[in-house]
Amino acid sequence: MTPDYPLLARQLEALLDTRDWLTNSAQTCAFVMQSLPNLNWVGFYLQRQPEVLSLGPFQGKPACHPIPFSKGVCGAAARTRTTQRVADVHAVADHIACDVDSRAELVVPVLAGETLWGVLDLDSPQEARFSAADQAGIEQLVAVFVARTDLV
Ligand code: SME
Repeated sequence: MTPDYPLLARQLEALLDTRDWLTNSAQTCAFVMQSLPNLNWVGFYLQRQPEVLSLGPFQGKPACHPIPFSKGVCGAAARTRTTQRVADVHAVADHIACDVDSRAELVVPVLAGETLWGVLDLDSPQEARFSAADQAGIEQLVAVFVARTDLV
């Protein structure tokens, strides 16, 4: 069953009561991890130098850092600025395996105007965990994060 994403978006709006990117990104990944079933990792990667993703606030096991734009599912999301929804990461040749439990992955780009600020990465141990409805819902949550945050 698809979670009630409009309700989750309203709850996240209420939670993000600072404009601070660090506080809001930490709260957002904790909120997503607590609110959605069957996830093993949720976190932000930030573009803090050109074409490289640096590990930001996350929930889950210690993760890979840094990730160049040229590599992996996160790199593809950053490079193309489009959401990457992968049913089985084992089928992606340049997937970067941080946690052997990860099977499905959803990576949403986070844009500050024209600039790629970073990505939000969700991993699941369940194959094909993310439906098109999940993708739309999580993109909606990222839109709330962007609207509520000063991305510097
Ligand atoms: N699997 C990702 C790397 C990040 S971790 O999953 C936390 C990728 O291929 O980009």
